[in-house]
Amino acid sequence: MKIGVLTGGGDCPGLNPAIRAIVMRALEYGDELVGLRQGWQGLREELTTPLTLEAVEPIINQGGTILGSSRTDPTKDEESIAQCLATAKKLGLDVLIALGGEDTLGGAHAMCGRGLNCVGVPKTMDNDLSATDYTFGFDSAVSVAVDAADRLKDTARSHRRVMVLEVMGRHAGWVALHTGVNAGADYILIPEVPFDRSELVSHIKEIKGRGKEWGLVVVSEGVKRPEPGAEGEQHVRDEFGHEKLGGIGAYVAAVIEKDTKVDTRYVSLGHIMRGGSPSPFDRWLATRVGLKAVELAHEGKFDHMAALQGTDIVGVPLEAAVGELKTVPRELYEEVKLLFSQ
Ligand code: F6P
Repeated sequence: MKIGVLTGGGDCPGLNPAIRAIVMRALEYGDELVGLRQGWQGLREELTTPLTLEAVEPIINQGGTILGSSRTDPTKDEESIAQCLATAKKLGLDVLIALGGEDTLGGAHAMCGRGLNCVGVPKTMDNDLSATDYTFGFDSAVSVAVDAADRLKDTARSHRRVMVLEVMGRHAGWVALHTGVNAGADYILIPEVPFDRSELVSHIKEIKGRGKEWGLVVVSEGVKRPEPGAEGEQHVRDEFGHEKLGGIGAYVAAVIEKDTKVDTRYVSLGHIMRGGSPSPFDRWLATRVGLKAVELAHEGKFDHMAALQGTDIVGVPLEAAVGELKTVPRELYEEVKLLFSQ
């Protein structure tokens, strides 16, 4: 069997261990492999790279992706679809394993409908893919953010300040919620729960009133400002039409300083969260879904992805993964809210 491999969307720790597992499993089967560089662009424009044992053996602890990535949409127009199909035919691909989040796997699902056999491997630091309990990249990103938050608390205590930490996560609050709870934040703002300015401000005043002279607030980049009209706010888009988020941390810090008169600073972690060595949990998860993807390919289970359900890695239809974003349920937020509302 000849297998093409690509990584699409925002990179995250765990991609390299997953590629490594795919290659090792496929070589064991006696398969041929080819890497497509820069996501779907690699298939569209035939940007290939060899995937050998020597290339992947040492990469288990490396962040990023040796294949490169992009947000190229293979189904943008009929021409792109035709180019992708032509390259797949020319390379003699029996199956394409696509590692990615909602967009990349959505592309894989659509390309399956156009006659290209695809298998998906879920990845995203946002953890917002349905049909899998966790995605690799998330644990590593949260570890970086918790470390940053702990450091911010040190300086916040020294200067009797409130520090606001803005984290990535797009339209899901998983990263912010896990970071905030694990760092013992005084308040957490996530996109799923409307921003209540007066609740935030009165909580900061309350902690100050009981003698705590510093605080930590974690805010997810996807949180909307509470002002009328802010809901329909226009964000800048990248060349692929992807909304560029970020900046809410500065706004939250300004609100806190204005309404509470407490000296406040903010930090936006941004892409720092996406770099660095994958955590052991992410290496393990990435390895297991990588192995499973090759199994799915050999079973002919195309249009499926390898997913974590409980402690099992199972095959699920790609459609179930990309149909709807997995956001933080309100009950979960309420369950942990007592930790940042006393
Ligand atoms: O989806 C992963 C992610 O890191 C989001 O959390 C963030 O909004 C986005 O990608 C940033 O994308 P880019 O690397 O294109 O700026």
